[in-house]
Amino acid sequence: MAYLPGFHPALSRVAATRDHRMQENMEPLDPEAKQALLRQFHPDHRADASRPIPFGPNAGEPCARELVDLLAASSRVDPARVRLDPPDDDVDVLVIGGGGAGAAAALVAAAQGARVLPATKLRLGDSNTIMATGMAAATGPDDSPAAHFLDTIGGGHFSNVPELVEAMVLDGPSIIAWFEDLGVMFDRSADGNFVLGTAGGYSRRRTHSCRDNTGLEMMRVLRDELLTRHIPVLEFHPAVELLLDETGRCAGALLQHLDTGHLRVVRARATVLAAGGMGRLHCHGFPTSNHYGATGDGVVIGYRAGALLLFMDSVQYHPTGVVWPEQMFGWLVTERCRALGAHLVNVEGRRFIYERQTRDAVAAAIIGECERGLGVTTPSGAGGVWLDTPVIDRLSGGRDRPRLAAMSARFRRFGIDIWQEPILVYPTQHYQNGGLRIDVHGRTSVPGLYAAGEVAGGVHGRNRLGGNALLDVFVFGRRAGADAARCARDVAPGRLGLQHVIDHNRRADPDAVVRSPLVLPRYAAPDPRLSETFHA
Ligand code: FUM
Repeated sequence: MAYLPGFHPALSRVAATRDHRMQENMEPLDPEAKQALLRQFHPDHRADASRPIPFGPNAGEPCARELVDLLAASSRVDPARVRLDPPDDDVDVLVIGGGGAGAAAALVAAAQGARVLPATKLRLGDSNTIMATGMAAATGPDDSPAAHFLDTIGGGHFSNVPELVEAMVLDGPSIIAWFEDLGVMFDRSADGNFVLGTAGGYSRRRTHSCRDNTGLEMMRVLRDELLTRHIPVLEFHPAVELLLDETGRCAGALLQHLDTGHLRVVRARATVLAAGGMGRLHCHGFPTSNHYGATGDGVVIGYRAGALLLFMDSVQYHPTGVVWPEQMFGWLVTERCRALGAHLVNVEGRRFIYERQTRDAVAAAIIGECERGLGVTTPSGAGGVWLDTPVIDRLSGGRDRPRLAAMSARFRRFGIDIWQEPILVYPTQHYQNGGLRIDVHGRTSVPGLYAAGEVAGGVHGRNRLGGNALLDVFVFGRRAGADAARCARDVAPGRLGLQHVIDHNRRADPDAVVRSPLVLPRYAAPDPRLSETFHA
């Protein structure tokens, strides 16, 4: 739907102030002002943002309240009704998750000779990976892993686990080479060098892209590679609990067929959790940029099995989610727009924040602007500010249009030409900064259980920089897959058990209406077959 006439006065102010704004020099906030802005407006700082985790290894620590509800809820599995022996599958490495981290882990583990079973809730590739527009890696002539390290740590408020950041930035260039080997054609200029972009918090240009379909293109080659190597993927089978043996070692998982509700018992010598994040929990009622399956299941089942968490009170709200058209509410408007020069503009036509500040600060500034009454309100009452994308065209003389080709096509379907008109935006829940604690090999605190990608925490500290998600996914997906394959050679799982789930159910909130893991977002009444567990 194109902009309604009610938007026209505000749109005219954006156009009328453009020339003036393009002469203006916005300064980044100094560290004190940035902290003050975050305290005042970032959703993580709201009084009701987090609650203590009631029990388990991180008992008493703050966690996003929407996730606490799931951590405290009874399991959707009734252990008394589950037969574990004999298992339906017996493999070396079970990989849970069909996004970038899962696919990378499966490929690397299989390359080491492991019998691998990748299983995914929806279809292979249904993930946040395919929506990502750029991947950071220090390949530029003026860049280095050391500079990438410092930027990442600064962006994360110095809370990142340093050895994880070190592993990520050092592996960066080899991840680019791996993907080029697999057939990804990253954007290059006429002289053959990479076209490198930037994002808030970076001191160098270092994001690699395939136009604005980067994650999709990477997932395409990974999917091809899985097919070529005859590694079949079990689709529509979310993991609903992990299995532990009598020593407390992870020994596989219970999967549940999404249509029939039937349980499938997988015994595995090592298990890689790559189940993604939790955008579909809609913290504070925010919309989300995340894919349909992002319901926090990995953290829930990992924690129940005894894995330590960290930073679970830290959620990333991407500054620019779509407000209009309403059919795209919450969708990601890539940070690349701001990197290419787009201004953030309030209802009066004024800029109010340096657009290349880190995401947490830009999101807080937009929320603040709307709370002060300087936002633009839609007929249904949603608020937002303008992202003045025509500035990109003015700055580049149209040359940057191909870099936002997919996004401009999405808006065109609704009659909005982003090269002529700005986009109405507001923060959208984008990323879980925290997750399962891992070491540099992706090992969690539970023997035999690995985590990679968004389900793991620590790499990004309390705020992730743009382009570091794709890198994290592939670095730790590969590392976890390799170590899981190694570990599978040395261990034999014991007797499969669900005692941890029995113990959990005894402590769980008996009044909770929800059972967890959630598996699918709570937009409609649950399918009764999926709230029951039974064995085929
Ligand atoms: O804004 C973006 O293009 C998102 C990238 C990311 O989350 O890394």
